[in-house]
Amino acid sequence: MPRAVQTLAWITRPMPFMERARARYGDTFTVRIAQEGTWVFLSDPEAVKEVFTAPPGVLHAGEANAILRPWLGDNSVLLLDGPRHLAQRKLLLPPLHGERMQRYGETMAEIARREVAAWPAGRPMRLWPRMQAITLEVIVRTIFGADEAARLDRLRAQLRDAAEMTTQPRMMVQMAAFGPDRVGASRGFRDRMAPVDAAVFEAIAARRAEGDLSGRDDILSLLLQARHEDGSPMSDQELRDELMTMLLAGHETTATALSWAIERLLRLPGGMERLREADDDYVDAVVKETLRLRPVLPVVVRQVKQPIRVGGIDFEPGVTLTPCIHLMHRRPDVYPEPARFRPERFLERAGGDRPYTWLPFGGGVRRCLGAAFAQFEMQTILRVIAQERRLRATTPAAEPVRRRAITLTPGRGAEVVASPA
Ligand code: HEM
Repeated sequence: MPRAVQTLAWITRPMPFMERARARYGDTFTVRIAQEGTWVFLSDPEAVKEVFTAPPGVLHAGEANAILRPWLGDNSVLLLDGPRHLAQRKLLLPPLHGERMQRYGETMAEIARREVAAWPAGRPMRLWPRMQAITLEVIVRTIFGADEAARLDRLRAQLRDAAEMTTQPRMMVQMAAFGPDRVGASRGFRDRMAPVDAAVFEAIAARRAEGDLSGRDDILSLLLQARHEDGSPMSDQELRDELMTMLLAGHETTATALSWAIERLLRLPGGMERLREADDDYVDAVVKETLRLRPVLPVVVRQVKQPIRVGGIDFEPGVTLTPCIHLMHRRPDVYPEPARFRPERFLERAGGDRPYTWLPFGGGVRRCLGAAFAQFEMQTILRVIAQERRLRATTPAAEPVRRRAITLTPGRGAEVVASPA
């Protein structure tokens, strides 16, 4: 196909396009996309393993995200590569993991309960914006702490605005025409971002001034106490860039995954009822199966910087290797009846255990830093919804998958009718 036709198919009908290509050419095939160059799709677990375990200097992911620089800034872990990237990852990992994260559970449940209580009864509503409201509040509160978060009303509205901006077609056209650096430097863009930056810098300054932070567990306080390998603290600009990265990477993705979880459960007979009674293992399986069947992102990308052999093929710099989340998750040899939503498959361990076959969060040195946080948040919020409300779908038919910039969202916004439990 001509490049323009491939680009159009990739943008408008990504899933059928990928599936047809695999049916015709096998697990490894090349797609040519305008602006993006040559992408080699991979969905064989061994080949994907070779990509995710390659040394960081050989494959880069940060450059491919350059379009986000005007929002995230030069220090963002998403945009860096090599040693600077690894250094930022080390700083960000501890606040998002383990026991720390569990402590955010009560906050997450409380925010969800409050939001769910305001849902209208007996009228159709789109869940997606409601989930956005919950996940935005969760990330703002875990980052800044409850006391600061209360003062950050303006910031919330502005963040929604900034997130919205990243998906606007007009913005995409400007980016394509002028590049991220010129767009970022433009008057209009700076005017919109300035108040967001001011609010974040203000919060950083206020927290720094507080002195003893050892008793606090919000992410900002933890990062203020983190140290680089040479013992130096993070600068205000670094903090701002990483907080913005977490704010933007963390809420829309999780809201979309939550919307899909409900959309799928409502079309599984007895699905919501089972969730209400479920133990932790089943809730975890629901989250995993949702992210398998409806991954928020269809692919991850790695630009080849030094020659590398993957799946027995030699690749040279200039090519982008593209582990395909969607196609991996639809492999019938790993996930029998791949199109079926069946959380039990993760309890039976029929495939979920094979390494490099469950990729909703990517992998290797670029694996999503919020993966544990997002899954825990999804479990917590799903439980609250199941306990507090009865939901039904407005139509029996599955919602179509619709692309929104780079994410794959429910076509009708996960439409439901809610009633008291
Ligand atoms: C269901 C929700 C989420 C999904 C599906 C998701 C998915 C992803 C994916 C696919 C990547 C790229 C991985 C790769 O290239 O191998 C990524 C990176 C990242 N995500 Fe998430 N994410 C989610 C939630 C979050 C949350 C809640 C946070 C923060 C609190 C977060 C922070 C990040 C960061 C910082 C990176 C960059 C990591 C790096 O480049 O080293 N994400 N995410």
